[in-house]
Amino acid sequence: MSGDLLQELDALEREAERELATAQTRAETEAWYSRYLGRKGALTQALRNLGSLPPDLRPQVGRRANRLKQRLEQALKERQEAIRQAEIQDRLAAEKVDVTLPGRRPSVGRLHPTTRTLREIYRIFGQMGFQIYDAPEVETDEYNFTLLNIPEGHPARDMWDTFYTTTPGVILRTHTSPGQIHAMREYAPEPIRVILPGKCYRHEDVTARAEMMFYQVEGLAVGRKITFADLKGVLVNFVDQMFGQGRRLRFRKSYFPFTEPSVEVDVDCVLCAGQGCRVCKYTGWLEILGAGMVNPVVLRNGGYDPARFSGFAFGMGPERIAMLRYGVDDIRYFYTNDVRFLEQIG
Ligand code: PHE
Repeated sequence: MSGDLLQELDALEREAERELATAQTRAETEAWYSRYLGRKGALTQALRNLGSLPPDLRPQVGRRANRLKQRLEQALKERQEAIRQAEIQDRLAAEKVDVTLPGRRPSVGRLHPTTRTLREIYRIFGQMGFQIYDAPEVETDEYNFTLLNIPEGHPARDMWDTFYTTTPGVILRTHTSPGQIHAMREYAPEPIRVILPGKCYRHEDVTARAEMMFYQVEGLAVGRKITFADLKGVLVNFVDQMFGQGRRLRFRKSYFPFTEPSVEVDVDCVLCAGQGCRVCKYTGWLEILGAGMVNPVVLRNGGYDPARFSGFAFGMGPERIAMLRYGVDDIRYFYTNDVRFLEQIG
């Protein structure tokens, strides 16, 4: 009888250990626990029979049964720990981070091509003794036109499609030239050498070549005995530095009410080396600025006596210059705020 029970316990031990070894999850070990060690488990059932043993055998079988219970409990703990470790290993493998992958670089901003071009323009004219003069973007009709020798009703006003405000006589400047008057009125009768950079506004049909808002850099020199040769020297030096030595320059006669004589200045197209392309409209030349000798009327409006003073002025478009430097063939890229544009023209 006791031998039977001991054998039964031996068999139970082997079976329990074999089964435990196949448990793969915590839930399976819990099911195993109730099968063997739970209230209705096999070991518990076996121990119920202890009472039917002769009293002298009970301690021996009882000890054996208790040891078995302890051993199975210990085995359960070990199995559960092994499963836990295996689960951790699985998760580590599944969530493995490949530290050799290249990181995601934060996109770093950089200066806008207009800003870079403006700074280069400031540097070059700075070397030639030009100071930067700030003039307003919101102007009066008087400064934008009348004082620049474009009286009301003058057909030259049609050269610029002006944005008017609801305040009579107040407009957005169509060019930086009104800054000439501001500078002259501030400095007369001292000699002047300034550049006036800033935004201008024209109601244009927006195309690859024209935007409604764009920059200009005006230049103005007023003094005694300033001649067209000075203007030419300054512009040749500027183009040499901006585009590199050896570019060809073309001075074309032109008309502006505030300069006399007036010219427009072209450089040979950087994009096609003068061969002719879409950007230069197959002419091989690109216009970069308008210029001329300051009209005596304008000198007088600025407070200078044209009998004793003369001067030159020019107005250039930095976006146009940036397009040439960076090979951009559409001005609309500049102000559509697509960061890929900035990333491309590094
Ligand atoms: N203000 C002229 C324009 O916007 C350019 C210019 C400036 C021409 C100075 C001559 C002198 O077209």
